[in-house]
Amino acid sequence: MELYEPYGIPVASKAEKESFDRANTKAMIFTRMLKDSEKVVFFGGAGVSTESGIPDFRSATGVYSQKYGNRSPEQIVSRSFFDSFPREFYSFYREKMLFLDAKPNAAHLKLAELEKAGKDITIVTQNIDGLHQKAGSSKVIELHGSVMRNRCMKCGQEYNVNFVANDRNPVPECSLCGGKIKPDVVLYEESLDEKNIEAAVTAISECDMLIVAGTSLVVYPAAGFIRYFRGAHSVIINLSQSGHDQFMDLAVHEKVGEFLSQIDVSECVGKKKKSAE
Ligand SMILES: NC(=O)c1ccc[n+]([C@@H]2O[C@H](COP(=O)([O-])OP(=O)(O)OC[C@H]3O[C@@H](n4cnc5c(N)ncnc54)[C@H](O)[C@@H]3O)[C@@H](O)[C@H]2O)c1
Ligand SMILES: [Zn+2]
Repeated sequence: MELYEPYGIPVASKAEKESFDRANTKAMIFTRMLKDSEKVVFFGGAGVSTESGIPDFRSATGVYSQKYGNRSPEQIVSRSFFDSFPREFYSFYREKMLFLDAKPNAAHLKLAELEKAGKDITIVTQNIDGLHQKAGSSKVIELHGSVMRNRCMKCGQEYNVNFVANDRNPVPECSLCGGKIKPDVVLYEESLDEKNIEAAVTAISECDMLIVAGTSLVVYPAAGFIRYFRGAHSVIINLSQSGHDQFMDLAVHEKVGEFLSQIDVSECVGKKKKSAE
């Protein structure tokens, strides 16, 4: 079979190759890559949720562009700060990190639609907002945890996000034992869950197509996981350019929701499974 270079996607005929030459749009190339891939991983960051109204950290309008007294946001969302100044932590957290009314945007919805149509798609997210699950995706690895889950540090009792947002105490308190409640979110100075690391690395090393989207790829160890990719097609969709663009087969500098809206799911499915499976 012939390949359409430089993207390495198979073309069935000369006519098809010519049609690519004529209308060589990024959405079209992306669609063909998806169709050619059995296993897909979508590796996302805060930029995937900005179109839902949740600010990211490092854009010009992001959380890091503002000042909080003499403290940086990194300091505030660290474990030592949470332990020493839980009131200040929760005041920042409730205002800047809880967006209970946020709804899945076109990116979340398209990924869920792809899964529904039969695509084997795993989402590895650095986000903590739970929007992929709200959209209907079922294979979601939350590297940095989720604001949706919260636990009493003393007795382990679980609490939902509404309790944490609305509890009248400045630091939400367990109604059983009075203990401090901690969100199941990975703070700076804390380690990622081993099972999540393993699941993410396995998914990335076994997939045929890796889509990296809406992430500045500076938060480690998460950003390092994409190095395990060995498959055929890699794409980055990010508003700003980065040093990673040159290592990907396709780089798209558009809003991820706007770009994915152009994708027709029915054209992305249908690759025959290998006979051994
Ligand atoms: N929604 C959330 O859950 C949320 C929000 C803010 C921060 N965080 C946490 O903060 C850390 C920040 O690292 P990060 O790399 O994920 O985010 P980041 O803020 O460092 O980078 C976001 C990137 O996304 C790009 N971007 C913004 N909007 C976009 C859009 N609509 N389409 C495409 N690209 C867009 C920006 O140009 C930027 O490069 C993560 O670990 C995450 O846990 C999470
Ligand atoms: Zn308790």
